[in-house]
Amino acid sequence: MTSLQDVRDRMGDCKACPLWEGRTNLVFGVGNPYARVMFIGEGPGKNEDLQGEPFVGAAGKFLNELLDIAGLRREDVYIANILKCRPPGNRDPQPGEIAACTPWLREQIKVIHPEYLVTLGNFATKFVLKTERGITSLHGQVMTTGPFTVMPMFHPAAAIYDQSKKDLLRDDFRKLGLLLDEKYPRHQVEESR
Ligand code: URA
Repeated sequence: MTSLQDVRDRMGDCKACPLWEGRTNLVFGVGNPYARVMFIGEGPGKNEDLQGEPFVGAAGKFLNELLDIAGLRREDVYIANILKCRPPGNRDPQPGEIAACTPWLREQIKVIHPEYLVTLGNFATKFVLKTERGITSLHGQVMTTGPFTVMPMFHPAAAIYDQSKKDLLRDDFRKLGLLLDEKYPRHQVEESR
């Protein structure tokens, strides 16, 4: 049985696309290998590149708040990105970079085999759902691809200066929490006799 560490070891000092030249750290992913929910972002920003961990900057702070709304802790979930190395100046991922990097993400998904894939933003949503539809029309919908339930969401970074997107993200995470609770309630209250 392959483990996440096997995947990381095989990735090694990856030079499959030019982004390796600018990186401080390759940002592989973090969290629970048995997670029910896996979050997929876009790519590391400055703080993530420096610390080697996804979503540790401003977007990560907001993600932590959103996880709390869904009744999740960071250690319950797995968090990875479409790209494992920081694009210069946080520009959009290029098609060649996505093609070079996403085989590793596919392997991570296969190993973790979560129930839910939550795609954060357009790049992750397009990759997972193979769709050209934008996140504005898809966010908060419950979809399926293969064995996975997929919930596309706005990218938390896009909401930092946009109160209406913040509210929509909070609504979508509340919905995710309710879906998770349907199967395994957060607080099982014993009936009084
Ligand atoms: N934005 C992302 O998409 N991923 C990160 O890890 C941080 C910010």
